[in-house]
Amino acid sequence: MEPRDKIIDSDDFIKMLGFQLGKIDHFTVAVLSKRMELAKLVQEYKHRHGNQSILRKEIEDKRLAQVTDLAKKRSLNPNFAQALLYFIISESCRVQIDKLQTRSIEADKLFKIDKEAWYKLLKKNLLELAASFAPKYEKNYGDDAPFATSSCLNFEESVLQREIGALRGVGNLGLAVDLGCATGRLTFRIAPHFEHAIGYDISPDMISGAKSTQSRNVNFLKFKNITFEEIDIEKEICFRYTLLSV
Ligand SMILES: C[S@@+](CC[C@H](N)C(=O)[O-])C[C@H]1O[C@@H](n2cnc3c(N)ncnc32)[C@H](O)[C@@H]1O
Repeated sequence: MEPRDKIIDSDDFIKMLGFQLGKIDHFTVAVLSKRMELAKLVQEYKHRHGNQSILRKEIEDKRLAQVTDLAKKRSLNPNFAQALLYFIISESCRVQIDKLQTRSIEADKLFKIDKEAWYKLLKKNLLELAASFAPKYEKNYGDDAPFATSSCLNFEESVLQREIGALRGVGNLGLAVDLGCATGRLTFRIAPHFEHAIGYDISPDMISGAKSTQSRNVNFLKFKNITFEEIDIEKEICFRYTLLSV
C-alpha cells in the first residue's frame, strides 16, 4: 500500500481534516471581520471627502473581474468566487450604510431614545436613496447588472414562471399585488397573466418612473390593467379594485 493511501485510510485522517477545516473557518471569519473593518474606514474616508457614493460600480466590477482571474488560476469555480465577493461587497455596503446612518451624535441619540424618530429618519433616507436610484434602476437591474445580480434575476424569473404556471392550473388569475414595486420591473412582467395588477411603492420617484414607462410603452393597451400607487405598505394596503371574475 502506498504511504499516501495508508494515511488516508487511518482513523486519524478524518480528525485531522476536521481540525484543518475548523482552522479555515476560523481564518475565514477573521478575514471577513477585517474586511468589514476596512469597509467602515472606507466610509469614514468618503464622509470626510464629501459623502461619496457607497456603491461604486466601476471599482466593484474591477474587483469582481480580478477575483474571477484569481479563481481561474487557483482552479476555483469563478462563478462561485464572484458570487462570494458580491455577497461580501453587499455586506460591506450594508455596514457602510449602517455607519452612515448612525454617524451623527444626533442620529445615535435618536436610535437610543426615540425609536419613532429614528424610524422616520430611516424612511427619509430610504426616500432619498430611492430618488437617486429611480432613474437608473431599470439599467442596474437589466443590461448593467453584474454577474451575481443576473444570476439572482434568472433564478427569480424561473420561480415566477413556475408559480404563474401553477396558479394557471388553479383557475382564472384575478389580482396581482407587487409590494415595493420600484419602477415596475416585475409588475410589467406579471401583469399580462392577471386580470389586474397593482404596484405599490413608498417612493414617489419610483412610482413616477413606473407610470412614465407605462404611458410610454408601445404596448400600452397590454398594460392598461396595471395601477401604480405611492403607498407606505407598512401603514396601509387598500384594494379598491373590483375584479370581474371575483
Ligand atoms: C430593492 S427594491 C425592489 C423592487 C422590485 N420589487 C424589483 O424586484 O425590482 C425595494 C423597493 O421597496 C420600496 N419600499 C421599501 N419600503 C417600503 C414601504 N414601507 N412601503 C412601500 N414600498 C417600500 C422601495 O422604495 C424600493 O423601491
